[in-house]
Amino acid sequence: MESPHCSCGAANMRHSRDESLSMTSVNDIRSSFVDYFARNGHEAVASSPLVPRNDPTLMFTNAGMVQFKNVFTGIEKRPYSTATTAQKCVRAGGKHNDLDNVGFTARHHTFFEMLGNFSFGDYFKDRAIELAWNLLTKDWGLDKNRLMVTVYEDDDEAMALWKKIAGIGEDRIVRLGAKSNFWQMGDTGPCGPCSEIFYDHGEHIWGGPPGSPEEDGDRWIEIWNLVFMQFEQHGDGSRTGLPRPSIDTGMGLERISAVMQGVHDNYDIDLFKALIGTAAAMTGADVNGEGNRSLRVIADHLRSMSFLIAEGVLPSNEGRGYVLRRIMRRAMRHATLLGSEEPVIFKMVPTLVREMGQAYPELVRGEAMITETVRLEEGRFLKTLGRGLQILSDETKALGEGDILAGATAFKLYDTYGFPLDLTQDALRARNIAVDQAGFDAAMAQQKAEARKSWSGSGEAATDGIWYGLADSLGPTEFLGYETEIAEGEVKALIRNGALVDALETGDEGFVVVNQTPFYGESGGQVGDSGLIKGDGVAATVTETQKHHGVFAHKVTVTEGRLTKGQPLELLVDHERRSAIRANHSATHLLHEALRIVLGDHVAQKGSMVAPDRLRFDFVHTKPVTPQEMAAVEDMANAIILQNSPVETRLMGVEEAKESGARALFGEKYGDEVRVVAMGEPTGNGLGWSVELCGGTHVRRTGDIGLVSIVAESAVGAGVRRIEALTGNAARHRGNNHVAIVDAAAGLLRAGSHEVLDRISALQDNIKKIERELTDARKKLALGGTGAGAAANADETVNGVTYVGRTVEGIAAKDVKGLVDSEKKRIGSGVVTVVLKGEDGKGTVAIGVTDDLTARYAAGNLIKLATAALGGQGGGGRPDMAQGGGPDGSRADEAIAAIRAAL
Ligand code: SER
Repeated sequence: MESPHCSCGAANMRHSRDESLSMTSVNDIRSSFVDYFARNGHEAVASSPLVPRNDPTLMFTNAGMVQFKNVFTGIEKRPYSTATTAQKCVRAGGKHNDLDNVGFTARHHTFFEMLGNFSFGDYFKDRAIELAWNLLTKDWGLDKNRLMVTVYEDDDEAMALWKKIAGIGEDRIVRLGAKSNFWQMGDTGPCGPCSEIFYDHGEHIWGGPPGSPEEDGDRWIEIWNLVFMQFEQHGDGSRTGLPRPSIDTGMGLERISAVMQGVHDNYDIDLFKALIGTAAAMTGADVNGEGNRSLRVIADHLRSMSFLIAEGVLPSNEGRGYVLRRIMRRAMRHATLLGSEEPVIFKMVPTLVREMGQAYPELVRGEAMITETVRLEEGRFLKTLGRGLQILSDETKALGEGDILAGATAFKLYDTYGFPLDLTQDALRARNIAVDQAGFDAAMAQQKAEARKSWSGSGEAATDGIWYGLADSLGPTEFLGYETEIAEGEVKALIRNGALVDALETGDEGFVVVNQTPFYGESGGQVGDSGLIKGDGVAATVTETQKHHGVFAHKVTVTEGRLTKGQPLELLVDHERRSAIRANHSATHLLHEALRIVLGDHVAQKGSMVAPDRLRFDFVHTKPVTPQEMAAVEDMANAIILQNSPVETRLMGVEEAKESGARALFGEKYGDEVRVVAMGEPTGNGLGWSVELCGGTHVRRTGDIGLVSIVAESAVGAGVRRIEALTGNAARHRGNNHVAIVDAAAGLLRAGSHEVLDRISALQDNIKKIERELTDARKKLALGGTGAGAAANADETVNGVTYVGRTVEGIAAKDVKGLVDSEKKRIGSGVVTVVLKGEDGKGTVAIGVTDDLTARYAAGNLIKLATAALGGQGGGGRPDMAQGGGPDGSRADEAIAAIRAAL
């Protein structure tokens, strides 16, 4: 885990408020908070990711308690009962959306940090109040006369505790209703009454204390919210008690920094000064001039975009990626308002990394990738921005304050020029012109309907009906699996026997569709993930994951309970299997590049298969890859593995990607934007040694592949070769198995393993020699002995001609003729018949006639008599030698007799 907090400066935090002014940096305040609670027995826990792993309904983590949601309700156990965090939060998109307000107010942010302390059934109200009050007034030395608190209207206990612990009078404690003093995370989840601490920024600012008619002014600012978590809110509206009363507090780091640094505006704290200063320098804008609002927008959005990209969220047209794109494009438009015509925001990333990288090392690790992603998105957007703004200005020329821009125009800007709706709204806000949102939505719906029509014309509709329908009604499933292998999702659809159903029962097989998943759906040659899903009283195994038109279908067998629509589920990918798949996929890219270098540029990918246990790669090449070439390819790929360099993913336009030299599958249809995976240190000025368009999952560093070993090479069609390879443990195990086989062979040979090959070839020579000798011996034995005399016993004279008729066994059919020849030689003149009784019961016969007699007898004619006797027919050959056979070898004597009779 990363350690999110630096401890610098913490020791000097005990000072009066006045002293603290301008002395205490945001970084100091963050670490001072965490150190204080750690000193008071709390576990310092790292910030959880912005994309929540444990909540299927939340777009981004928006409070410190999100990562502890299930700890409060008792579902999840942790080894501590109190904790403290500095949590990164994004409030843009989804339920809490502050995007539109950023730049217009002193305190709205799309990205902010929430400092918090938590008790999971450990301490409750009294200790929470005591810890908060002591930190503010003692450790941080805030003037208690500037503080006020609120309590929930009938929380007499909290009222009494504040009086006792803080020693403040009822004049400084305000009772407020549920609207402001009952906190809940969302429609469901842990909740409870709360108590808020307010800070008075001073008379020079207009506003009144909480609960007063002037409370909306900016003088009294809420700095800390203490939630007394007592209940869990359920979807059906009911509320039950938590297992034990708990505490969740949240303090915005930017707000408390403003207080501690003696400024009123969050954007005047040191961290924002640095970011705004850089933005001003890069755009040439005056910090105190008219462009200040745009500088604030850029500074704020730079933080959210960088943190989201560092977590692997990339700009897209769906879900979280789209919220990111909206943030990025809004910032980019403000950069152009400041006069920038070229990409400029990406140049500000290093300042952010300098300011926040120590507390959040993911920024340091991701710096190159963040910079590149921002630069590319800027380039892409700037191409259409000018034209879009021109259209906007033309279309609104005739409009005045209070008018409304047509929804269709806003949609055209969105669809053709990449203007998110809120960007158009933002651009018109200063002129007080609104956008007809209903018209915009209608134009969007019409476009979707047209897209649907083109689907149904594609011919696949019949079998794919369900999936098309789900893609249409649910939209694509959000894939979280680039970053995580465990996440929660909510059941959106269930399918059994090809039909939508409301539930899957124990023992049922079917498909589950959720709104977001870490499971990879089979595509691009990479197999789908398998694993487990679990929920309240329900469990299922996922045997495979498919992807249909962007909808991920988890094929499951329910092992326990009942799966129903709307259920939240924890989805757990089989980690070991996925790791092996990652390694194999990354290795495929390395082999691809190595093959191209070794064999030539004609090597184009024709297909691939990436499974957990192996990989294969098909490519254009007209002849077999030689062992030397294969060794060179393997060496090259392993050299990149040994570099252990980071594997980087970017999102790029297809054309840009191809221009950058990224390898793409010829003829493959890509969307407008593609993931580009780069690995290995670049040899030129490219993005990496291997750069490919790829939507698959990959290792983090090339070293994670371990090693790659090519195990087979073959042809799969005209001009297409296939190599198969193993990586990591599979490659190692195969190597080990082969060594074990050689060792065992050496043991059998009683030789050293280096001698095995020589010994085996000597053995083979020996066997051949012995076989030859054995054949000779068998022939001799077959003719009744070893001497010429022994054979002569069988000679007879028929009609004045010497006739030899013999039956033999135990020799090969091909050797029968040889026997006939040697008998002919021995007798000098005559006729020879040799019948072999085969082991299979068949007979093979050869007949020889010495040359002096071929005018009288033709072997080719005689043979027919012999094969007929053996129950066969035919046979053939020359006058001096013929061969044939029949099914019945036991009639060998009849065959010999038939020839005798014919002489
Ligand atoms: N959850 C509460 C809030 O977000 C306190 O942390 O304000």
